[in-house]
Amino acid sequence: MAEVTLKGVAKSYGRTPAVREFDLDIADEEFVVFVGPSGCGKSTTLRMIAGLEDITGGEIRIGDRVVNDLPPRDRNISMVFQNYALYPHMTVRENQAFGLRLAGRAKEEIARKVARASGILGLDPYLERRPAALSGGQRQRVAMGRAIVRDPDVFLFDEPLSNLDAKLRGQMRTEIKKLHEKVRTTVIYVTHDQVEAMTLADRIVVMRDGRIEQVGTPEEVYHRPVSDFVASFIGSPPMNLLEGRIVAEGDAPAVALSGGPVLPLGPGHARLPAGASVTLGLRPEAIAPQGMAGPMRRPFAFEADITLVEPLGGEALIFLALGDREMTARVFRPPARLAPARGVQFLVDLAEASVFDGGTGRRLGDDGAN
Ligand SMILES: Nc1ncnc2c1ncn2[C@@H]1O[C@H](COP(=O)(O)OP(=O)(O)OP(=O)(O)O)[C@@H](O)[C@H]1O
Ligand SMILES: [Mg+2]
Repeated sequence: MAEVTLKGVAKSYGRTPAVREFDLDIADEEFVVFVGPSGCGKSTTLRMIAGLEDITGGEIRIGDRVVNDLPPRDRNISMVFQNYALYPHMTVRENQAFGLRLAGRAKEEIARKVARASGILGLDPYLERRPAALSGGQRQRVAMGRAIVRDPDVFLFDEPLSNLDAKLRGQMRTEIKKLHEKVRTTVIYVTHDQVEAMTLADRIVVMRDGRIEQVGTPEEVYHRPVSDFVASFIGSPPMNLLEGRIVAEGDAPAVALSGGPVLPLGPGHARLPAGASVTLGLRPEAIAPQGMAGPMRRPFAFEADITLVEPLGGEALIFLALGDREMTARVFRPPARLAPARGVQFLVDLAEASVFDGGTGRRLGDDGAN
């Protein structure tokens, strides 16, 4: 068990910065997920925490120790990678025991720890098998078993599920979540799958170009993205982002979408100056045809064409055209008659709207008052 603290951590390869001024406090037993596009510095940050990469600047603490100059084996962390690299000539039992044997641990201790890890991960039926006779998900579990037996203070995962097919990924995601509930260890987990991030994390760290763009609970990152970058990265399908201008409507401002309707904003956006160019962000589930909308706090009606419907079983995606813009709506328990049509009445919940600066992309306005 341990907190992990990064203070001004930086990494450059030659003159190229990969991670810059990274500040983060991770609590004991917290599950933190790093997400972001390819090349944003997720693995580099994780590898610096593991000690597999030296740092160019700053300080890393695990528990009460500064670990900047400690070799990986002295940091009491376990790392699980995407390619689990099991020893092919060893059985599942031997693969899990190997690290402890190497460390000269007593036989009974090794047996006890392997039995515990195998029990937690459901590996008991496979203990005498070799990796070649296991499925991808079972192999990934052996890799996790190998990490668990070491009783680490911190687990580091780097895209552990990305070699698995979609169904298995989903199952293993659930297993990792259960595992964390049983083993209660600090976890830092890297992925570029935003569904994994949303479902696993206590807190999500969204990275961009080697920097932290936002840190927050899944709720915060989803409902109050600090920028249009986070808004478009978290959520599937992504948030609708529509260009417009602030116009004054009495006391309260409104957004005039280019060539489209004027949407009144809430009192929280009262200080936005008329004329400012903004991007309006609307989650697909905040938009629905009239009659299919759930309860809305500030509904606004508009007319649009349905150009395409994608039924997904319990829900459906509706693509709508509003002037020359495309938007996506997401409805739950869609009726069977849902089909492309012209001039359909829609409702959008403007209490759910995000407003971003048209130039910088930063979130504008006072939250909570919408
Ligand atoms: N050994 C290296 N030498 C030079 N540049 C490197 C090295 N390792 C990583 N980089 C660069 O550092 C940046 C961050 O890489 P990193 O592997 O941390 O990205 P990532 O967020 O893990 O991406 P992905 O999602 O593709 O795994 C990238 O621009 C990468 O090209
Ligand atoms: Mg990576």
